[in-house]
Amino acid sequence: MLGTGLIGMFYTMSIHGQRSRDRVVNVYSRNPQRAEEFAGKWGIGSWSTELDEAINHPESDVVIVALPNFLHKEAILKAVEAGKSVLCTKPLAMSGQEAKEILEAAEKAGVFHGYLEDLVYTPKTLKSLAAVKDGALGRILWTRSREAHPGPHSDWFWDAEQSGGGAIIDMGCHCIEIGRNFIGKDVRPVEVMCWADTQVKPIDAEDHALGWVKYANGAIGQFEVSWTFRGGMDLRDEVSGTEGTIRLDHFLRTGFEMYTSGNRDSYVAEKAETEEGWIFPVGDEVVALGYNDMFTDMFNALEQGKQPMETFYDGYVVNCIMDACYRSAKSKKWEPVELEIWRGKEAADNQKAHNEFDEKHWLIKEERLPDGRKKVILKNKESGKVSEKVMEVKSEK
Ligand SMILES: NC(=O)c1ccc[n+]([C@@H]2O[C@H](COP(=O)([O-])OP(=O)(O)OC[C@H]3O[C@@H](n4cnc5c(N)ncnc54)[C@H](O)[C@@H]3O)[C@@H](O)[C@H]2O)c1
Repeated sequence: MLGTGLIGMFYTMSIHGQRSRDRVVNVYSRNPQRAEEFAGKWGIGSWSTELDEAINHPESDVVIVALPNFLHKEAILKAVEAGKSVLCTKPLAMSGQEAKEILEAAEKAGVFHGYLEDLVYTPKTLKSLAAVKDGALGRILWTRSREAHPGPHSDWFWDAEQSGGGAIIDMGCHCIEIGRNFIGKDVRPVEVMCWADTQVKPIDAEDHALGWVKYANGAIGQFEVSWTFRGGMDLRDEVSGTEGTIRLDHFLRTGFEMYTSGNRDSYVAEKAETEEGWIFPVGDEVVALGYNDMFTDMFNALEQGKQPMETFYDGYVVNCIMDACYRSAKSKKWEPVELEIWRGKEAADNQKAHNEFDEKHWLIKEERLPDGRKKVILKNKESGKVSEKVMEVKSEK
């Protein structure tokens, strides 16, 4: 485990969780005290302050990169060189170009690689993805993914030199990959429109951004990210298709609400802003945020010689989409997503299948009126004329 910060801790909690047989065998931190403390707290047999030593630890077969963004490439390249399987947290890299170098190095060495995008693995998301795959929502038209909180917990996030950007690179990566999963990972993201601004914080990068990723089949993936949001961590997704809709709330309104006078110091949930009054705890954060299902998929895939659901290729695509977001925020125009490596469908299958009402008409819409009759809105196939018709209720026998 490279890194003893917030995500290194969540990953370790998840890997060691309950009666799991998976173990972290060695942990790396620059700081010996921190490394020793972390190893002691989580029952890890050895620790190291040397990156090379940690990566080449003889008992480890997987290297997990849980370090700040600017260190991902160096750590991954070292792991690849050591011939180890490697899993990396989000974002894969600081840019599409850097992600491409990482992807190519891992593939050339033939090592197992996984992109730790936990938010596509939440139990709710996995079930939603299965429903979408099964056709429950018809053709997916629009996804909306939101991650907003009062800002990250460590200095390096706020320094664009070390993080690669602001709220987009930090959280847009989650939202974009959630949208891609629902719309279809084989559907090409074509272009992006993005607004980004620094509304509150004294930083060079954006603390708030909204964006729209247009896909080759006509679907749109909307993301909303903010480091200026007050009231905790707001994690929500919506999926909208021709036959249905899904709404997901992962963190703030999960059906668990508690009132406390604040008579004790206690952790509520990640980025919760208050420990008193009405609070929104999360039953089991590592489950709710997808870490458990993510590591299960990663380790099963590794053992079975398969690809996990999320690979470095996905991390690369996400980085390229974010690059286009940054260009669009500057140019204020739709910007193309530049993907030098594309492995999905080439042709746009933008099939707008219409519903037929009768031989002469397409059905635009039908609605039940308060008096029980049904109204239909039709379009004449030949003339294009739009008309409406109220259908009489059939009398009961
Ligand atoms: N849901 C998620 O998937 C999720 C959530 C949080 C963070 N992350 C990602 O995990 C990574 C780490 O984030 P975090 O929240 O754990 O950050 P953190 O600040 O809590 O921890 C970072 C760790 O890296 C160490 N570190 C910092 N600078 C270093 C340097 N120059 N050399 C060596 N070690 C250094 C720190 O001491 C610490 O152990 C980031 O890439 C972040 O985007 C992912």
